[in-house]
Amino acid sequence: MENSVSGFSKFTKAEKIDWLISNHFQNNPKAKANLERYWNSDDSLQKLHDEFTENTISNFYLPFGIAPNFLINGKMYVIPMAIEESSVVAAASNAAKFWMERGGFTAEVLSTTKVGQVHFMYHGEYSELETIFNTIKPQLFEQTKSITKNMQKRGGGILDIKLVNKTSKLSGYYQLHVTFETKDAMGANFINSCLEQIATTFKASSDTIQVVMSILSNYVPECLVRAEVRCKVDELDTEAYSGQEFADTFIQAVRIAEIEPYRAVTHNKGIMNGVDSVVLATGNDFRAVEAGVHAYAARSGSYSSLTHASIENGVFKFWIELPLALGTIGGLTGLHPMVKTALELLGHPSAKKLMTIVAVAGLAQNFAALKSLTTTGIQQGHMKMHLLNILNQFEANANEKLQLIEHFKTHTVTHSAVVDAIENLRA
Ligand code: HMG
Repeated sequence: MENSVSGFSKFTKAEKIDWLISNHFQNNPKAKANLERYWNSDDSLQKLHDEFTENTISNFYLPFGIAPNFLINGKMYVIPMAIEESSVVAAASNAAKFWMERGGFTAEVLSTTKVGQVHFMYHGEYSELETIFNTIKPQLFEQTKSITKNMQKRGGGILDIKLVNKTSKLSGYYQLHVTFETKDAMGANFINSCLEQIATTFKASSDTIQVVMSILSNYVPECLVRAEVRCKVDELDTEAYSGQEFADTFIQAVRIAEIEPYRAVTHNKGIMNGVDSVVLATGNDFRAVEAGVHAYAARSGSYSSLTHASIENGVFKFWIELPLALGTIGGLTGLHPMVKTALELLGHPSAKKLMTIVAVAGLAQNFAALKSLTTTGIQQGHMKMHLLNILNQFEANANEKLQLIEHFKTHTVTHSAVVDAIENLRA
């Protein structure tokens, strides 16, 4: 095939770049220079990044921002956020400051169980399969001991192994549904190693069992954290509206996201602005978190809001429940220098502590977004933060930026208003 390449993975980094530039960038030296411009001048740091993944030819930066003033369970935090979208860090900081003045956030981990499954096919009598499983079950634990012994020392390991009959959904399909406690590790490698050993032992117990695959599940509805804010309704009073008006409209906005999937997806996207940015900054797997969170949001059969709100006895309450499988040891956490900085900033949290911080970031983000949406509208604050992006797009110099930022303190930011203002200034 035209432009196909064989043995690419074995090329050196320089050879990979040369191949790419000559085959896909018409040998444009600017394309090569752009890739090289993003290399780190510290060779050992660059090598570390090169080796995080495969076929690395350059780096792709994300801003590393911080949101101060997070009061969580009585302790102050500065939350690290890796995100490219404007207004997310500002929104988190804004909500943190707002709630710091009203008692802060409370958060608790409700459960920490993770799940993995051995998926297999069996076409004999179910009672015989049960007998095979019950006979072999002690050996399933026994033969994973070399893998689980360190985790057990830390108080974790395999919690249980259950045989699950799924034949009503798919002919001949069964599972070994295995539950795990992985303490401060996210546990993916540990879980998968245990599962593969369990599958090997189980398969060897009968030639009627056909193992299809063994893999952890990123759906973790029993690895759950809850975060909440609350205050008296009149503490929400402003000059523009009463606390009661604000809370009533805010609760309506949450109710809409509870019952309307089109709105719920955007509502939850705003929550994930906060969640993902902290998950990324702390070296965790945001794809796993995203997949698990959205499955949880749809657990009733209809996709719904992850946050909820109420007024009870004059007290406004706003809370979130999130399934989060996070680690503060293993993976990138001990390797990536910025991840280490992020974890140090958070006081070297346990995985449970990190779950509470991430849930709070999600709740704060949703609060800021809904507060804007139900009062000023989202564009006012968002575009105020986006102004610099538009100015950079038009290559405004430092002096132009200063003047235009000043100008837009008293004018509404829209893309065309910024373009007009730049043109006027330059004329
Ligand atoms: P504001 O009230 O105009 O801000 O809010 P301010 O200038 O009066 O400053 C008040 C505080 O806000 C500051 O306190 C900061 O905490 C924070 P201070 O530091 O001065 O003591 N703040 C900032 N922090 C860092 N950098 C800044 C900055 N500016 C203010 N430059 C704000 C402005 C944007 C914060 C507010 O309008 C807001 O929270 N808007 C919501 C923005 C948002 O949600 N953005 C997410 C992207 S939109 C999206 O993807 C999700 C969405 O679709 C989800 C949904 O539909 O539900 C909206």
